[in-house]
Amino acid sequence: MNRTVICPGSFDPVTLGHIDIIGRAAAMFDRVIVAVLINSAKKPVFTVDERIRLLEKALVGLDNVEIRSFDGLLAEYARKTGADAVVRGLRAVSDFEYEFQMSLTNKKLNPELETIFLTSRAEYMFLSSSIVKQIAVLNGDITNFVPECIHDEIKNRLAGNI
Ligand code: PNS
Repeated sequence: MNRTVICPGSFDPVTLGHIDIIGRAAAMFDRVIVAVLINSAKKPVFTVDERIRLLEKALVGLDNVEIRSFDGLLAEYARKTGADAVVRGLRAVSDFEYEFQMSLTNKKLNPELETIFLTSRAEYMFLSSSIVKQIAVLNGDITNFVPECIHDEIKNRLAGNI
């Protein structure tokens, strides 16, 4: 059977933690749609086009992964794309309540949609896009947090952006 999953997120910007989850999803499913949220309450620093381009560069070689953007409800987007499930990474207990709420809401809105949680690798437990932005803006070293091929682009974009 051909199984499609969505890895949704803000990806502002993509981190090694995201790449790890997407790579693991790509190994488990036939097709992975990385869906970048267009309108986020979080007011993204990177534009949708920038976030997509960074993801495209970082995910080169993963042939069953597509990068798209979406607006509105994830449950509706999943219905439209024929996705069977949503994959989310869980870092710590603190993620759980929000993720649980989101998963139950999506199930109510689209009963056919499953949510699958992958536990974060230990080395990425603390990692988030916000942490990367905070460090880069203060001219800190983000080498261990983002893919090497997009490191300079992220760094230059955020340097001095206080
Ligand atoms: O990377 P993030 O910011 O944690 O991703 C959050 C995301 C994009 C998965 C979530 O905000 C989302 O699905 N937004 C779309 C709106 C929606 O469907 N809301 C209802 C479910 S709570």
